Amino acid sequence: MKWTGCSLWMIAFAALLMLSHSPVNAQPDKMILDLSAISGKTTRPPVSFPHNRHVEAGLSCKDCHHIYENGKNVLDESKLEEGNKGIRCSACHGPKSQANLEQAFHNQCVGCHTKYEKEKKKTGPRYCGECHIRK
Ligand code: HEC
Ligand code: HEC
Ligand code: HEC
Ligand code: HEC
Repeated sequence: MKWTGCSLWMIAFAALLMLSHSPVNAQPDKMILDLSAISGKTTRPPVSFPHNRHVEAGLSCKDCHHIYENGKNVLDESKLEEGNKGIRCSACHGPKSQANLEQAFHNQCVGCHTKYEKEKKKTGPRYCGECHIRK
């Protein structure tokens, strides 16, 4: 069989299609977390969150994303797609929930970084100014 330019191009295209459907591409890389759009005025600079680095560090989606039923995380991971507003923390964490939005972020981010620090593992920032970085 002869590899013409055309069939090579088709293979490349097919590979690209397959890649774009892999879960790795279903998630944004660097995210800017900023509550100002939701809660109006904020007092701290927005937080740059290296989303994929967390996945590369071996964390699973369900370490952070959840839907709880009877205390169990029953989230269907295939629902974790960019643009799905239902997976945003703000979809459930508001003034009336047990953990409001600011607490939800802090408890999750700082909670895990502190836990990993105690376990002497590679971890992320724990101090205000390391996450809320002033430009
Ligand atoms: C591991 C990262 C991290 C650390 C450390 C951290 N925060 Fe945050 N914080 C966030 C994220 C994420 C949000 C939600 C996005 C945002 O900043 O609007 C947030 C939101 C906030 C908000 C509400 C939004 C605003 O700007 O008014 C305040 C206030 C705040 N943090 C203060 C603090 C203070 C004070 C400390 C230190 C005691 C601290 N944070 C440490 C990640 C962090
Ligand atoms: C370390 C915690 C963490 C891990 C692990 C994690 N995520 Fe996320 N993810 C977040 C946070 C925080 C947001 C921002 C949510 C918000 O804006 O309210 C987010 C946002 C997203 C969004 C964007 C939603 C939108 O606004 O369009 C997608 C898609 C997503 N995650 C998919 C995944 C998938 C798939 C995995 C597993 C391969 C994963 N995440 C692992 C914390 C995490
Ligand atoms: C589908 C709804 C839903 C979404 C989306 C959601 N949560 Fe939750 N979360 C809950 C419920 C329900 C609980 C259990 C009790 C409560 O706080 O109301 C909970 C508990 C938590 C807790 C433990 C409670 C505590 O006080 O520390 C943290 C931390 C948390 N969520 C952070 C987040 C973060 C960060 C996001 C976004 C990445 C997120 N949640 C997205 C519903 C949700
Ligand atoms: C379940 C555990 C876990 C959660 C939740 C988590 N992180 Fe992390 N984070 C880590 C680990 C582990 C690393 C180190 C990854 C590496 O360097 O390979 C890290 C690294 C980071 C870094 C990179 C620091 C550097 O050296 O550049 C930032 C920034 C960060 N996290 C911010 C956040 C923010 C903001 C949140 C909440 C939205 C968050 N993390 C939630 C475990 C977590």
